[in-house]
Amino acid sequence: SHIRIIGVPMDLGADRRGVDMGPSAIRAAGLSERLDDLGYDCEEASDLVVPNPEEVTDPEERKSRTDLDQKKTKYLPEVEEVSTQLADEAEEAIQENEFPLILGGDHSIAIGSLSGTSRAANVGVIWFDAHSDFNTPKTTSSGNVHGMPLAAALGVGEFEKPEYEWARAAGIVPERVVLVGLRSVDDTERDAVKQSNVTTFTMADIDEQGIENVVDQALKIASKNVDGIHVSFDLDWIDPTVAPGVGTPVRGGATFREARYALEAVAEANDRDSILRSLEFVEVNPILDRENRTATIAVELAETALGRKLL
Ligand code: ARG
Ligand code: MN
Ligand code: MN
Ligand code: MN
Repeated sequence: SHIRIIGVPMDLGADRRGVDMGPSAIRAAGLSERLDDLGYDCEEASDLVVPNPEEVTDPEERKSRTDLDQKKTKYLPEVEEVSTQLADEAEEAIQENEFPLILGGDHSIAIGSLSGTSRAANVGVIWFDAHSDFNTPKTTSSGNVHGMPLAAALGVGEFEKPEYEWARAAGIVPERVVLVGLRSVDDTERDAVKQSNVTTFTMADIDEQGIENVVDQALKIASKNVDGIHVSFDLDWIDPTVAPGVGTPVRGGATFREARYALEAVAEANDRDSILRSLEFVEVNPILDRENRTATIAVELAETALGRKLL
């Protein structure tokens, strides 16, 4: 079967430059060779075009804008443009019976992945991440869109407004969204997370219940009464001692074994019920890495999720 690899060299949603090199780092770690070896037919499309921060709107001009949201949130028009392109690409891939494997880029790209995937299929979401990514243009303290994609997709708070229609993933409901591995939730986003009907598993939940139980529950919740799931994997879910090349590292993360187990469980569920509709790996920052470890981990995890078996 076909995999469409969609590279999104986006870093406008994050403060730290370098995640724009994520797709290249993941390719350099051997992604398509490894997946071809698994029996897939990988189609390498060109990366989406993402403008450089230097070439887009002059910062002074941006400051003078009257719209509060535009002023506070960085590069929103550019994020909208790229998200719209990515959504079309992911939707088209699924419609053409190809599997979208999306490479970030910062996590703002999930706005596009979720809206495109949800237009082509009725999906739930499993979100492996240290962060809840539930800020809005009103609540953000960083102004970075990579802290907002889940709120945007679900139309939380500010994102209910008509001007954010492009960011909402029609059809994805919070009851089918599961966050796994949380350990960094801003004071400003906490209430929204708690008031929404998403399911959350913190790192402490993983410590108490074990990864097996947590992922099993996540799979059940996300895939109930839908056609399938989208898996969004932020590499900062894994502990930064193991995966140091990420934009916003947070200590106390998942071990490599937990991460691999989680994606083995996804692959097993997929073998049983073919539920996996799309998959993305985001926030790889090779500049902060040593010997491209984090991208190498992303490749191993991609293989695992897509069915590489030990025996
Ligand atoms: N909560 C912080 C913010 O809103 C950090 C978000 C980090 N998100 C990520 N996808 N790495 O700025
Ligand atoms: Mn093809
Ligand atoms: Mn994230
Ligand atoms: Mn994160």
